[in-house]
Order: sequence, then C-alpha cells, then structure tokens
Amino acid sequence: MVEEKIKKEAEEEAQAQVDIWKYVFGFTEMAVVKCAIELGIPDFLEGQDGQAMTLDGLSAALGCSPSSLYRIMRFLTNRGIFRQVNQGLGCSSQNSTSNAIACSSITYVQTPLSRLLARNGEKSMAAIVLLESSPVMLSPWLGLGRRVLANSPPPFDTYHGQDVWSYAQNNPAHSKLINDAMACDARVAVSAMINGCPQVFEGISSLVDVGGGDGTALRTLLKACPWIRGINFDLPHVVSVAPRSDGVEHVGGDMFHSVPNADAAFIMVSTVSGCCMTGEMTNVSAY
Ligand SMILES: C[S@@+](CC[C@H](N)C(=O)[O-])C[C@H]1O[C@@H](n2cnc3c(N)ncnc32)[C@H](O)[C@@H]1O
Repeated sequence: MVEEKIKKEAEEEAQAQVDIWKYVFGFTEMAVVKCAIELGIPDFLEGQDGQAMTLDGLSAALGCSPSSLYRIMRFLTNRGIFRQVNQGLGCSSQNSTSNAIACSSITYVQTPLSRLLARNGEKSMAAIVLLESSPVMLSPWLGLGRRVLANSPPPFDTYHGQDVWSYAQNNPAHSKLINDAMACDARVAVSAMINGCPQVFEGISSLVDVGGGDGTALRTLLKACPWIRGINFDLPHVVSVAPRSDGVEHVGGDMFHSVPNADAAFIMVSTVSGCCMTGEMTNVSAY
C-alpha cells in the first residue's frame, strides 16, 4: 500500500515536470498561429483547391527559407493545424542535395482548423487571433497579479491609462483590428441566429444593432431578411469608417445616453476581446 502511494506520487511528479513546460512555453501556440496568419499560409493553401502543396513551393510563394518554414509547419501540423500528407525526411538548414530532395517531398494540406485562419474565409477567426495577439491586448494580461492585489481598474485601463474604446478612438490602427475581429464574430453568430431561429426576425421592419461595430451583423442579417431596415449604432469613430451598404444606416453616439428608435434592438456583446462595456443604459426607447 505504501509502496503504491510512493509510486503514484513519483508518477505525478514526473508528469508535473513534463506539464510545467506547457506553461513555460504556452505563449508559443499563439505566436506561431499569428505567424502563420501573417505569412498568409492558410490563405495560400486555401487557394490550392485541396491540392497538397510542397514545402519548397510554399516557401517560394511566401518568400522564406524552406528550413525556417519547415519548423513552423512542424509545430502547426503537430497541433492539427495543417496536415502533412507524406512523412518526408525532415528538412534542416544544411544545404545538401539530399536535404533539397527532402524539402521537395514534404507536402501540406489545410484542415478544418487552418481554414478558420484564412483571412477571407466565411468563418474566419484570423482577425480575432490578430487582435488578441497584438501587444496592445496582450501586455495588460502580464500585469494580472498586480490587478488582483490592488483591486485596481481592469488591466487594460491600468496598463494603457484609458479604457479599450478610448484607446481605439485614439489609435485608428487598433480600432481597425477591433472592428475586423468583431466582424468575424458577427458573421458566425448572426448566421447561426438566422439558421437557428429565423422566426425571431419576422414582422420586424426596423432593427437597431447597439454596439454593432462596422455593421457586419446587420449586413449579414439583411441578406436573409431584406425587408428589415437596419440601424447600426456605435461610437462615432467606429461608424465614421464603417462600409456603407444599402439598407443599413450608420448612427454614431453613446449607448449610455440614448439609442435610436426601432421596432427592435439587439446587443451582441462578444466575449472575444476580453473587454467590457460598463455603464447603465438609460433613455433606451427601442426594444
Ligand atoms: C465587444 S464589441 C461587440 C461588437 C459586435 N456587436 C459583436 O458582438 O461582434 C462592442 C462594440 O460596442 C461599441 N461600444 C462600446 N462602448 C459604446 C458606447 N458607449 N456606445 C456605443 N457603442 C459602444 C464598441 O465600439 C464595439 O464596436
């Protein structure tokens, strides 16, 4: 009995010594996925119509060395993002003939996971990864301990000295990252709503999307329900750069002051950005 207990404890300790490395290098998962999106690997493979692409061909198309790319792809295939079709012999940085042959014999295809990382895919999550892996969003997480101890404002506000929406207003590039990420989420969520409960939208002639970002949710909705007049309501700096489209009127304002009138309103608060919208909505005449 005692021996068994000692053995079990030793096994658990050995496992802990393995598991700890997940936390030491946990950041690499996000960093390598971000790298794949930025290099355009999912988009390039998506354009191959299901044909496997050689490592050599991929590296030539992306303009990088096969050996560097091989290391990235080995990481990603190990996690089920991309599939290596043949085993190949590996590809090192040595410039030998046998190595050149090895690189040309390795081929890759997309997987359901890598398809979500193609920038223009219908269900793309690429923009969300790019937002969340940006230094602006990541840095505040690194001060989480201080936030817990001091019970201070949200880490983003403490780190940047302003809330996420004010930061976005003052930094158009970051605002675009947010809007693009929210659009990804809206495409998927609204399509699911339309497919899952289309009756919700029957009999509604006007609808205001409160905090609707760049209007993607309403544009997606109006394709299925063209009888609805959409009002996309968001902060002025967001609607001023939102794409125009028939049937959707953009209105800038602050939801905590007032919201445009409509038959119905919806508020989709995505959880993806880890951000928050605090305040009380008063004088809301829609609903
Ligand atoms: C988390 S995003 C949600 C976007 C989209 N509805 C979705 O779920 O994908 C919150 C949105 O609310 C907007 N927002 C934040 N504070 C606001 C305010 N006081 N008045 C109007 N819009 C606001 C932001 O600009 C942003 O577009």
